[in-house]
Amino acid sequence: MNIKRIGIILIIVLFCFGCKLQPEPEKPVVIPPDTSTVVILTVGNNKDLNTLLNDEMSGKTITWSSENTSKVSVTSDGVATATIISFSVAEGGSKKYTEGPAKAEVIITAKTSDNITQKFKVIATTEAQEKIMDLPPLKDRFPSKILLGNIGNSASATLTRHYNALTSENSMKPNAIAPNQGSYNWSSDSFVDSAIASGFKVIGHTLLWHSQIPSWQTAIGASASSPPTPEQKAAALDAMKTYITDIVTHFKGRIYSWDVLNEAFPDNPGSTWTSAIRQENPWFKAIGSDFVYEGFLAARLADPDAILYYNDFNTDQSGKATIIYNMVNAVNQKYLTSGDKPEGENPARLLIEGIGMQEHHNAGVSAGNIRNTLTKFRQLTGIKVSVTELDVLAQSWSEYSSNTAVTNNGLITQATKYSEYMTVYRDFADIIERITFWGITDNQSWRSRALPLLFDKDGKAKPAYYKFVGAIPTTW
Ligand code: XIL
Repeated sequence: MNIKRIGIILIIVLFCFGCKLQPEPEKPVVIPPDTSTVVILTVGNNKDLNTLLNDEMSGKTITWSSENTSKVSVTSDGVATATIISFSVAEGGSKKYTEGPAKAEVIITAKTSDNITQKFKVIATTEAQEKIMDLPPLKDRFPSKILLGNIGNSASATLTRHYNALTSENSMKPNAIAPNQGSYNWSSDSFVDSAIASGFKVIGHTLLWHSQIPSWQTAIGASASSPPTPEQKAAALDAMKTYITDIVTHFKGRIYSWDVLNEAFPDNPGSTWTSAIRQENPWFKAIGSDFVYEGFLAARLADPDAILYYNDFNTDQSGKATIIYNMVNAVNQKYLTSGDKPEGENPARLLIEGIGMQEHHNAGVSAGNIRNTLTKFRQLTGIKVSVTELDVLAQSWSEYSSNTAVTNNGLITQATKYSEYMTVYRDFADIIERITFWGITDNQSWRSRALPLLFDKDGKAKPAYYKFVGAIPTTW
């Protein structure tokens, strides 16, 4: 071995020895490696991050913090909530969720008193960007005895995918179907037939109302004295029975249920139903409260297979609920003891078999009131209830009335409302026959500026959709 070789070996040995002497680098206190714990959180929902804590953290007092509380907040107990998402497009001075992109990444830090730190990357997302046609059929989330409905003029692919009951928004209303006394516009035949062919149950909406009525009906009310003379009463009764009989007979066998009488009572009506009916209702003016019984009876005799409903809004208000209860009870008692039934009818069958709760709500309507009303209606033995026109403004009634723009927080409140309402409906699954939404996408809604539905104008699911679906039981 020459001297050169010995030198090289010596250098290598010294180098390795030197390495050994280097101090070990300090271990990082952040566990596990920074932000490796990713949590995807749908806006409006929350997640208890304690369940994801590393073993080293357990049993210690932890301080939680968020780098951006306006997007993802965290409680002192470690529950993270995705609250705000970012928007790219401003519309009408306010930023709207519907314009997306609906995603934000925020770091949440958990720190123990001895400075062990764990970081979470929380991705707040609407996931809302899922399209209506890619989502699983909503109707399949309900037992078959609860129908899921919407409005529509023909059986579109979207409707067929998610719903199994269909109401025409306007084409079967009195002014559309009976423009002149004794002459009818049956153009809704094609709607009814195509809906049935696609497997829908069709809801007839509506026969007796004070709004969207033809001028001949308004005139019947306007020309009656107060109170009406016996002649006026007899003539009006005759006109009403003919009108109902003609329409219900025309659609006989095709209509699953009829909204026979719509919105008869004002808000805060008192409890005597026979005198509290709206003065604008022409049939009440010309016939008196008997028109209610006679109207339902004419519908029953014309199509005994159809289920007959009374339908109204603001039924969450106890005054409305009470007067509807009293009216339905009185009309049914009269029917049970009368000889007015179609031949062969089960003597126990009621005349008004269903109450429609329209459920046109806003962010200020309490689920507790809806629960109270359903509890009351459940006491009417044999009565079914349907949610007939569900939509929830993403703002309070006063914001809506004063034309205020919808905010992101309003959309989150709306989502919570949908969840609370569905939570109530599921508790009354024994009496609820159908839940019908009054529209699919926000832009098609009759109250579109308050973005009241589950899907945005592009057919993308909103937080409202996820919260509503989240409240549907997985087993019934
Ligand atoms: C609404 C329709 O959605 C609108 O297109 C129309 O202009 C007015 O009527 N209660 C009812 C429904 O029973 O018929 C109403 O529908 C909403 C309130």
